[in-house]
Amino acid sequence: MRIEGSTVLLTGATGGIGQAMAHRLAGAGARLLLCARDAARLADLAEELSPGTQTVAADIASAAGRTMLIEAATAAAVEVVIHNAGTQEFGLFQEQDPAALQRQFELNLCAPVLLTRELLPALVRRDAAALVFVGSAFGSIGHPGFAAYCASKFGLRGFAETLRRELADSVVRVHYLAPRATRTALNGPQVVALNQALGNAIDAPQRVADELLRLLDRDRGGERFVGWPEKLFVRINAVWPRLVDAALAGKLATVRRYASQANPERRIDS
Ligand SMILES: NC(=O)c1ccc[n+]([C@@H]2O[C@H](COP(=O)([O-])OP(=O)(O)OC[C@H]3O[C@@H](n4cnc5c(N)ncnc54)[C@H](OP(=O)(O)O)[C@@H]3O)[C@@H](O)[C@H]2O)c1
Repeated sequence: MRIEGSTVLLTGATGGIGQAMAHRLAGAGARLLLCARDAARLADLAEELSPGTQTVAADIASAAGRTMLIEAATAAAVEVVIHNAGTQEFGLFQEQDPAALQRQFELNLCAPVLLTRELLPALVRRDAAALVFVGSAFGSIGHPGFAAYCASKFGLRGFAETLRRELADSVVRVHYLAPRATRTALNGPQVVALNQALGNAIDAPQRVADELLRLLDRDRGGERFVGWPEKLFVRINAVWPRLVDAALAGKLATVRRYASQANPERRIDS
């Protein structure tokens, strides 16, 4: 898909990965419609980018926010939609706040599904169009400490895969982009400490933005996983999950140590 001159809607634009994507897309000549909740941060970002960058301050986990975004996207005649906004709840599952878990599903899974439902009729009528769903390595590997986050990203990956197949004879290319740990505010202090303790690689957000441009350049939709050895673990988990069960069992004590600090007010001492 040719990015130069195309109109791109990017959600989660003010976040770590979103900002890197916005800069790369602007550099490639895209016209941007940026979405997040904080209007002031959106305005600052738009000012750094190309003149004419549009913004919508909307909470896309709410029906009213999605309506605002759909109206703006329709008026801008977007051709590419990048569903990047997301949140992450870390902790032992039984210690997590049910309301926060619900908000996580609403933002990570319901919002992209419902927005796509409303935006698709216009996209299929364009000469070329693309949908990108930003998932995670945790959308393929269930990792202790992230049960509901993983569930939301597994769901998103399933949605993207199904839609890619359902739209195979249309002009809309459907992509799923799965970063591994990336240095952004999404990861709270306990997650950062866990990644360090486990020796997990942590990417700069610009790496994910580079992968996005490569993905959009492809003629066919598909999945792209960022970084080794996570790419390999995703494949191993698919064909030999028992092996990954065993590997993660060996890390469980470390995960518990950090996860039990994530929600101290709900701590269940066992
Ligand atoms: N960072 C990682 O390690 C990592 C790894 C794998 C996958 N990912 C995925 O990459 C994507 C981007 O993550 P990130 O690390 O860039 O996160 P981030 O830095 O926390 O940014 C999140 C973005 O989403 C926006 N947002 C949050 N709630 C929203 C809502 N209800 N409505 C509209 N916008 C909302 C935030 O702006 P406002 O607060 O102003 O709304 C912000 O722009 C997510 O889908 C995440 O799951 C991240």
